[in-house]
Amino acid sequence: MAERKNRQWLLSARPHGLIKTSDFKWNETVVPPLKDGEVLIRNLAFSFDPTQRGWMSFDTYIPAIPLGRPMMAAAVGEIVESKKPGFAPGDLVQGLFGWEDYTTTDGAGLFAMQKLAPGTDPLLALSLFGITGLTAYFGTLAVGQPRAGETFVVSGAAGATGSVAGMIAKIKGCRVVGIAGGPEKCAWLTGEAGFDAAIDYKHENVGEALGRACPKGIDVYFDNVGGEILDHALAHLANRARVVLCGAISQYNEENGVFGAGPKNYFNLVFRAARMEGFLVFQFAQSYPEAIADLSKWYAEGKIKNKIDLAHGLEHCPETLIRLFTGANWGKQLLTMS
Ligand SMILES: NC(=O)c1ccc[n+]([C@@H]2O[C@H](COP(=O)([O-])OP(=O)(O)OC[C@H]3O[C@@H](n4cnc5c(N)ncnc54)[C@H](OP(=O)(O)O)[C@@H]3O)[C@@H](O)[C@H]2O)c1
Repeated sequence: MAERKNRQWLLSARPHGLIKTSDFKWNETVVPPLKDGEVLIRNLAFSFDPTQRGWMSFDTYIPAIPLGRPMMAAAVGEIVESKKPGFAPGDLVQGLFGWEDYTTTDGAGLFAMQKLAPGTDPLLALSLFGITGLTAYFGTLAVGQPRAGETFVVSGAAGATGSVAGMIAKIKGCRVVGIAGGPEKCAWLTGEAGFDAAIDYKHENVGEALGRACPKGIDVYFDNVGGEILDHALAHLANRARVVLCGAISQYNEENGVFGAGPKNYFNLVFRAARMEGFLVFQFAQSYPEAIADLSKWYAEGKIKNKIDLAHGLEHCPETLIRLFTGANWGKQLLTMS
């Protein structure tokens, strides 16, 4: 068989502060022969996730990506060769693949390779029905446990996870307040996304705005950003509130990252008999099918909007990842190969 060329982005440096395009190196190579138990995947679409900043730097819930290896991403691709039982050429699969034309993998690990039904839209599989939608679903319902009439506040609200979390809380009958950067994103939240109020953290005093938007306090706070916004939310908790620790993107580029400064107002958890709980979406893997069934129904009913921000071309992966940390993305950031 003729050699297959493989264009790829290698991780070339551990980032300091904001990721730079120079943290990656473009490489052109050929695909090696497959070993038993492996498949060769032609990548079709990549997901961009803030957690990739951690994978570039240190061991998280997966080992740090080694320098000189392809940058990894949640992705959808098509199998072109297989030496793995149960997987055949033509199968559409989702998993953790490299920023490259072709990925050779055994498909094992925390993001174990999954087959997708023929005809599945890769963009939907990587957004509402992928990690993003599932994170919003379990973070909101299993951890936050909102009840009708309660006040639900979400940060990173115009992002992939935050927007879906807020829409799910709306379905459950909550008053929903979103915190996002900029007037356009806030207008979208109170318009198309159906939130009750939005706070522009780049132009408003978040503490005062939360006081106005949540006169009875916050019952559920779904935190995607950490830092000062988490502190403001902690100061406004209602009795028996639930704080859902989903992410802390405001801290990911700080010198000590998520291991730097902790929340200042944590003692309000005592005064309000409240709880704060972190979660990883993978802990709910057994329940993904029921979550996808609910999300599919709400999507079909128009109760959940799946906003996608789409980039094109493997060569644009590095700058596309950086968009998450400058707030340039709006909704789920994805990239297709063409
Ligand atoms: N626990 C889990 O299992 C799990 C799974 C998936 C994701 N997550 C976490 O969920 C969060 C959202 O992820 P996502 O994939 O949905 O990304 P996203 O929200 O679509 O994109 C990131 C957004 O974060 C906001 N942001 C960036 N820097 C910020 C800062 N310094 N302060 C405040 N906001 C900032 C930006 O929006 P603005 O324009 O509004 O600033 C940006 O659009 C992340 O923290 C991620 O790590 C957790």
